[in-house]
Amino acid sequence: MTHRTLTVLPGGRTGAFPDGTLLIDALADLGAFPPTPCGGKGICGKCAVRVDMPAAEGPAGRSIETALACRTHLTRDLVVHVDRDPTARIRPPARLDPRARYGVAVDIGTTAIKIALADLDAERAVETDSFLNPQRRFGDDVIARITAAADESVRRRLAGLVRDAVATSVARTLADAGIAPDAVRTIAFSGNTVMLYLLAGLPVETLGAYPYRTPWRDIPLPPEETPLIPAFAHATSFFFPIASAFLGGDLVGGLALTLADGIDRNAFFIDLGTNGEMFLIDANGAVTATSCAMGPALEGMNISCGMTADEGAVVHCEPRGDGFDLEVLGGGPARGISGTGLVDCAALLVRTGAITNAGRIDPEAPRTLPAGLRIEERDGMRRVRIAEGVAITQRDVRNLQLAKGASLAAARILLDETGTDPADITTVIVAGTLGTRVNMDAFRRLGFLPDYPVAAYCASGNTSLAAAARACRDAAFRDSLRAARDRIRVVELSDRPDFNDRFLASLNFA
Ligand code: FES
Repeated sequence: MTHRTLTVLPGGRTGAFPDGTLLIDALADLGAFPPTPCGGKGICGKCAVRVDMPAAEGPAGRSIETALACRTHLTRDLVVHVDRDPTARIRPPARLDPRARYGVAVDIGTTAIKIALADLDAERAVETDSFLNPQRRFGDDVIARITAAADESVRRRLAGLVRDAVATSVARTLADAGIAPDAVRTIAFSGNTVMLYLLAGLPVETLGAYPYRTPWRDIPLPPEETPLIPAFAHATSFFFPIASAFLGGDLVGGLALTLADGIDRNAFFIDLGTNGEMFLIDANGAVTATSCAMGPALEGMNISCGMTADEGAVVHCEPRGDGFDLEVLGGGPARGISGTGLVDCAALLVRTGAITNAGRIDPEAPRTLPAGLRIEERDGMRRVRIAEGVAITQRDVRNLQLAKGASLAAARILLDETGTDPADITTVIVAGTLGTRVNMDAFRRLGFLPDYPVAAYCASGNTSLAAAARACRDAAFRDSLRAARDRIRVVELSDRPDFNDRFLASLNFA
């Protein structure tokens, strides 16, 4: 196989990669992680790097051109300039105390990995990094990765990709803040079951086929001589316990936090991501949980103009007069739309009739559309233009419906399983991708959940990462995770023949 050499400047790191490797993947392997808020769709422009052009290709001798790393393949040797040397040490961010002891909290999602540093002395945590899971080159979803991991060498590679990415990210944050690596005393890994198994190097085939067996519910650490992250070999590592193949450490962390907050009756919790993981604590304090596949729509990933909540993302949309206001992160022009922006826009469009309850973009709707929105047809697909270059397509609406249909059907099954009336639920906690920024009215109007008429709703952000940060610094909380896991009764939707009918009955927006 032909290999191409990539050199990253400044710093001069070099590696050889198979011809055709995506530049963003090669950069990640060399420890350079350009931001990728749109997930590689080529719309956000954030992954742009400067590439040395050979003399023959430049207009007048050697030149430098800009290229999107998510769209460029290595088809010749390349020299790439990134904004900063991946090995360099820069000015310390003021928010991290260089004298403190730290725990590293890691939330490994199928789509993204998030990292926080927990100050063990001041009992606070700071989210320090978030990047696309580098395993995605082996497939966007867990099933693709389970299939790829059947090959022993790929399984080792999948583990290595995440371990290296975490090590690089943490080392860089510490270096930036002038913190020595031995200040890291503990590392807590939360995430879904497949991601935690892959990180630990465990076989995953039983997780991908009925009856979805989990040979380990407490994931063993590798032997001491082969530490998970050699750069922090002296830190104590810790995996969150898992409840089932589809209810991972992230859900267990959310439950432990909920119980630690004294919420132990009549509560409903959902963690929205590529999967919707949810539990219901009934009037007797019994915990029943389930999980449904939602697709990454709310993470902005299978949405045509979707991106994470980063500069240029439409994160909110509010009706105003006969028009609407868009909130764009950073205040500049809109480049894409985040999960919260999608929820707001879709709720507005459903309310005005531009999207029917059945989810069809209605070409008759222009009469009722807020000024500034426009229904148009592009490449044979109907779409609503939100801003210059940003639109919601009919396919986007369908993907949103699939997510909300699955979530609503699964939540209704939990109510049935526990004999709970929606009016009994007093607390609803929405965690995950939509973070703390979701407009709860819009979210409720779209019907992601049954209507809980008397409940107080709260958006609690990334509870998986918050639980990992707390586990780093609170031994009692760490112990409570296993106890919380052991309280869970798991309902497998694959055992529910009525799920499909309920899913279809839950697709409409009203
Ligand atoms: S990640 Fe490349 S343009 Fe957005």
